Amino acid sequence: MNQIIEQLMKHRSIRKFTAEPVSEQMVESIISAGQMASTSSNVQAYSIISISDAQKRAKLMELAGNQAYIAESPVFLVWCADLYRLSEAAALHSRKADQYADSVENLIVATVDTALAAQNAAVAAESLGLGVVFIGGIRNHIDAVAKELQLPELVYPLFGMCIGYPDQEPMLRPRLPLSSVLQHNSYDKQQVTSGIAPYDQASSAYLLARSNGKTSVPWSVQMSKRLNEPVRLHMKSFLQERGFMKR
Ligand SMILES: Cc1cc2nc3c(=O)[nH]c(=O)nc-3n(C[C@H](O)[C@H](O)[C@H](O)COP(=O)(O)O)c2cc1C
Repeated sequence: MNQIIEQLMKHRSIRKFTAEPVSEQMVESIISAGQMASTSSNVQAYSIISISDAQKRAKLMELAGNQAYIAESPVFLVWCADLYRLSEAAALHSRKADQYADSVENLIVATVDTALAAQNAAVAAESLGLGVVFIGGIRNHIDAVAKELQLPELVYPLFGMCIGYPDQEPMLRPRLPLSSVLQHNSYDKQQVTSGIAPYDQASSAYLLARSNGKTSVPWSVQMSKRLNEPVRLHMKSFLQERGFMKR
């Protein structure tokens, strides 16, 4: 083990922050560390919008399911997958009409790049004693969020991120057994599914302890609920309207 792995093994999302501010210099270091993540063909297809305006924060909180920590955290970042910059750079040398920015492949590239940079930034923030939580809730009303942030075509808000000094010490959330996730040489369905029952037990015990005995819904029950509900079905048409995913 080393310090980096030890820190990664202690990750837990933080949803309550102290009032202690996070300096602009710290935010810049965190984002710079994010930028050093690997990036597909060096495209660096992301933009990060830091929301300091209180009214805008309140609006985004409302649009993201009224999660209070969006308004309360010292720093709130919106991580956007961004092919606009790329398209403009290419347009300096070739016609826009000839570009493939609208391919599914380029959507994947931009989304992966953004997530890698964000996770690097999250690790950097945690190394400074800060806590973070990602906010997928900003996709609940993604069109309104995009308008609020004046995003151009070929840019979409992938998730938000609250950052600040932790004012809580939540239990670590257990993960699936390693043997169910790590396989060798080929995909083994039996091995993959063998992790479900033991993880149901571990996740129930975790929830029971974290909720002081109020809930213990097993993981597979949560996943069943999740997969049987329509979630954000507006994403396909939103992305196509924004110029993504046309071929
Ligand atoms: C892309 C993404 C979106 C997320 N969106 C939210 C969110 O909207 N609200 C929230 O409270 N947590 C959100 N989370 C945090 C997850 O619930 C959390 O990471 C997961 O349950 C594991 O718990 P842990 O981070 O404490 O280990 C999100 C995490 C990711 C990676």
